[in-house]
Amino acid sequence: MPAPLTATAIAHPNIALVKYWGKRDDAANLPATGSLSVTLDAMRSRTRVRFEPGRSGDSVRLDGREDAGTSRRVSACLDLLRRRAGVRHGAVVDSDNDFPTGAGLASSASGFAALVTAAAAALGLDLPLDELARVARLGSGSAPRSLFGGFALLRNRADGEVAVGPLLAAEAWPLRVVIAITSAAHKEVSSRDGMAASRETSPYYGEWLHSHAADLDAGVRHVQGRDFTALATLAEHSCLKMHAVMMTTRPPLLYWMPATLGCLQAVQALRRAGTPVFFTIDAGPQVKAVCEPAAVPAVREALAAVPGVIRVVDSGLGPGAYCLDA
Ligand code: PMV
Repeated sequence: MPAPLTATAIAHPNIALVKYWGKRDDAANLPATGSLSVTLDAMRSRTRVRFEPGRSGDSVRLDGREDAGTSRRVSACLDLLRRRAGVRHGAVVDSDNDFPTGAGLASSASGFAALVTAAAAALGLDLPLDELARVARLGSGSAPRSLFGGFALLRNRADGEVAVGPLLAAEAWPLRVVIAITSAAHKEVSSRDGMAASRETSPYYGEWLHSHAADLDAGVRHVQGRDFTALATLAEHSCLKMHAVMMTTRPPLLYWMPATLGCLQAVQALRRAGTPVFFTIDAGPQVKAVCEPAAVPAVREALAAVPGVIRVVDSGLGPGAYCLDA
């Protein structure tokens, strides 16, 4: 059957509970550490890829706009897939997010997971997810995790590649994530540039790497054992350790808003009062509060009451990336 040359895919952002920050290899975009995440269902990236015979070069539009940096990363992923399929056609890529892009809501993870899923289908390539993950991580280090639903685990392999796969299905532990949006502004320093600066200048970077393997192993155990209390302590520690590295980078990477800190304190107060909830924050000012389903109304109310919180979004755990028209 000839390749359809066009396909559209959906992928959801994911939030790391054991974070990654830093690269082992900049050119290959290999993460310095593994990571453990949950994929969300409330937000999505939708990406359409159309390969055009005779076209040279790719046209890439994200939320209707062209951006040279994004286009280069998209073309790098498409080049790998084109080589694999033995075609040279340029592509027209249209991607949109139903949430703020580049604001610490993991839009690059969902965007690149949707891109490689759609592009492989358009080229008629039936690749194992592990192979698709290798293409996706060229675009964004956290994108391979969005290929999977529920809880996903990414580990560095001894041969230098990454291994990524499902750790636990969403239905097996249907936690909720309440997201407090404190700013929709685009971040000033990209994760990629920030990571390179942290490696060069943060005095804590070495300790971050050194202590990471034990955190990841503990995270796997706590998820497999559905141990909310232990996961809460570990995830908050991993998040704050990553932000300590960011803040001690020169110049400092301070992604927080006053409301970010307000949300952390609100989550801590809830937990002290017995509500099963913990926080995590990525390279941006939004706070993600992970909780058991019964806690959602109390968590929503507490976060919405923090001065500076613009909007609160409640999400379940979502599926991996999929094609709409394959
Ligand atoms: O996907 P990247 O390479 O832009 O990295 C994002 C890293 C964090 O979101 C800050 C942490 C993580 O593990 O997702």
